Formats: sequence, C-alpha cells, structure tokens
Amino acid sequence: ANPSLLILPGDGIGPEVMTEVRRVIDWFGAKRGLNFDVSEDLVGGAAYDKYGTPLHDDTMAKAQEVDAVLLGAVGGPKYDVLDFSVKPERGLLRLRKEMDLYANLRPAQCFDALADFSSLKKDVVAGLDIMIVRELTSGIYFGEPRGIYPDNEGGRVGVNTQRYTTDEIRRVARSAFELAKRRNNKVCSMEKANVMESGVLWREEVQWVHDNEYPEVELSHMYADNGAMQLVRNPKQFDVIVTDNLFGDILSDCAAMLTGSLGMLPSASLGAPMANGRPKALYEPVHGSAPDIAGQGKANPIACILSFAMALRYSFDRGDEAARLEATVEKVLADGVRTADLMGPEGGVPVSTSGMGDAILA
Ligand code: NAI
Ligand code: MG
Repeated sequence: ANPSLLILPGDGIGPEVMTEVRRVIDWFGAKRGLNFDVSEDLVGGAAYDKYGTPLHDDTMAKAQEVDAVLLGAVGGPKYDVLDFSVKPERGLLRLRKEMDLYANLRPAQCFDALADFSSLKKDVVAGLDIMIVRELTSGIYFGEPRGIYPDNEGGRVGVNTQRYTTDEIRRVARSAFELAKRRNNKVCSMEKANVMESGVLWREEVQWVHDNEYPEVELSHMYADNGAMQLVRNPKQFDVIVTDNLFGDILSDCAAMLTGSLGMLPSASLGAPMANGRPKALYEPVHGSAPDIAGQGKANPIACILSFAMALRYSFDRGDEAARLEATVEKVLADGVRTADLMGPEGGVPVSTSGMGDAILA
C-alpha cells in the first residue's frame, strides 16, 4: 500500500501554500513513482465554521491512523472573539497532545542566496544548517501545581512548575541522537543545571542515553543562557541541539531569525514509533495564517514545501528525494525567484505563491 498522508490546510494562507505542496506531491507521483494516499480535511477556523469545533473527532481519528499529517496554519481575526475552548489553536493543540508529539524539530538553515536577510553578518550564517529539538509535551508549560493564588501578605502569587521525568527526558534525547546519526553525529544539550534541579536531571539522563545507547555520537552540554549567546555569536559550531520546552521555545525562535523570513521555516513534531516503525508525525510551517496577506497570492509556499521535504525524510525514509526538493528550492532562490517577503534591496524576479510553485516544479 502507498504511504498515507492527511492534509489539513487550515485557515488564511494555509490553503494557498498547501495548494503548491499538493502540486509538488503530485509531481513526485508522476515523475518519481512516489505515490501517496492523500486525504484532506478541515482544521482550525475552517473546521469550526463547518462542524462547530476546531477539530472534528473523525479528523482526530484519521490523524492517528495515517503515516503523517501535514498542516498549513490556523487562526484569524474572525475567530478572535470565540471562546477559548473552540479557538482554532485548540485544534492544533489537540492534535499535538493526543498524538503525543514530544519532539519538535525546528531546523535553522540559511540558503546562501538569502544570507543578506539574516539579522547577522553574512559570513556568520552563510551555509548554516542546524536542528533544534525542543521537548514539546512536558516541562513548565504543563507542570502542576500551576495557578494564581493569594499569598500570605494579602497579595497574589503566580505559580508554574518545571517538572521532567526520566522517561520524558530519555525519549526526546533518543530523538535527538537518532537525528544526529542521520546528520553529523553531534548533539549539544542545553539546560540550566547550575540553578535548576530539573536541569541536573536533564543533563544526567541525556548523558545516560548517550553512554548506554549512542556512545558513537559526540555529546556536549551547555547552559541555555550561554547557548543563546553562542547561537548568535557562532551558530555554525552546532549541529543538533536538544533542550526542554521553555528553553526550546525561545532558542528556536532566536535561531529562526538567523535565517531571514518566516516564510522559509519548516518544522516537524514527532512522537513514539507506530506499529510500522514510523514515528507519529505532524509537519507544518512555523508561520501562522498571515491574515494580512491572505487571499492575495502573496504567501511564500516554501516553508510548507520544506515541511513536506521533512516528511519525506523522517516519515517516508526518502532522504534522497527530500534532498532533491531542498536543492531545488536552493536553486530557485539562487536564480533570484522571489515572493514579496524575500524581495531585498538587490531585487529579483517577483512571483506570486503559484509562481513560486511553478518555478520549483520547473
Ligand atoms: P503569522 O506568522 O501569521 O504572520 C506574521 C507576519 O509574517 C505577517 O506579516 C505575515 O504576512 C508574514 N508571513 C507569515 N507567513 C508568511 C509566508 N508564508 N509568506 C509571506 N509572509 C508570511 O503570525 P501572526 O500574524 O502573529 O498570526 C496570525 C494568525 O496566525 C493568528 O490567528 C495566530 O494565532 C495564527 N498563528 C497560527 C500558527 C499555526 O497555525 N501554527 C502559528 C502562529 C500564528
Ligand atoms: Mg515561540
């Protein structure tokens, strides 16, 4: 049977960028004999409009069955007034939670043609290719107790709890080491073991997984504050970085800006292996639904197309075809083809969303 893919275009520019991804998927079927059983469904505001819920139970069930889910983006001003329980974002959160996607992969890759877009000097970022693995389902965003309580002096106290178990740390560490084996055999783990107990445990457990299961991979440890500094000073010293939910949230946004436009950044969220050995997986661009440019043919589809490339590599074991797609994107950018978000002072060939799709297919 063909591998199965559930496509959830979502809201705003989600459907626009996904249309270009569909063309790329069809190309792989027609030209490379790589066929997928593709089904499509609603998520976010689009699902709320039709079903009164941002993620229908049937859609959730389908997401659990397929080999991979590819999502566009959710949300928009139209839905800001909705109750939190049916907000578009809840659809995405439910997918992540019920699929138990604990490893969030955020590559920061700088295409040479776009090095001028970085907030940093060109030579610091040209050729940059690193991967941040962020723990996504535990830590301080979920730990109990949490809440705002009265304190003893008649004021209030806001409480969150950073809490990690051995298993939670070990499984995300394994994701990072597995990735490192496909890349350059190098992992840097970041925490604050100097001031946090959960950081001490994090360091010990990552080291344990290394020593017992991946001794051939080079492992280093770094305090996360220093890590932030090093990411900006000399990001090319890193290959795979593994860190917790909170630090990963911040460090991955920081790393993202090393590379320029939001329209370029893919991501993957992976869970435990399924019966067929593939990890539970959700692929999505980092950007949102961009209501300011929705419906105008201005959206850059590359982040979503590169998310499909990640699916080829991590869900479908086709790293060769993923590399082909990435190299094609690189070539199109080197040729100066530019959606509006990529248009710099040096100019280029202006294209629409579908024009970028055309260039990549050509
Ligand atoms: P956004 O990522 O949608 O847009 C931020 C800025 O980047 C905008 O100026 C937008 O035009 C631009 N941009 C984003 N993607 C682009 C692309 N592919 N090509 C060209 N330009 C692009 O973030 P914002 O404005 O904070 O949020 C808008 C909506 O998206 C909100 O409803 C928010 O909740 C939702 N959102 C959804 C996410 C998701 O589905 N994973 C993630 C972030 C936000
Ligand atoms: Mg963030």
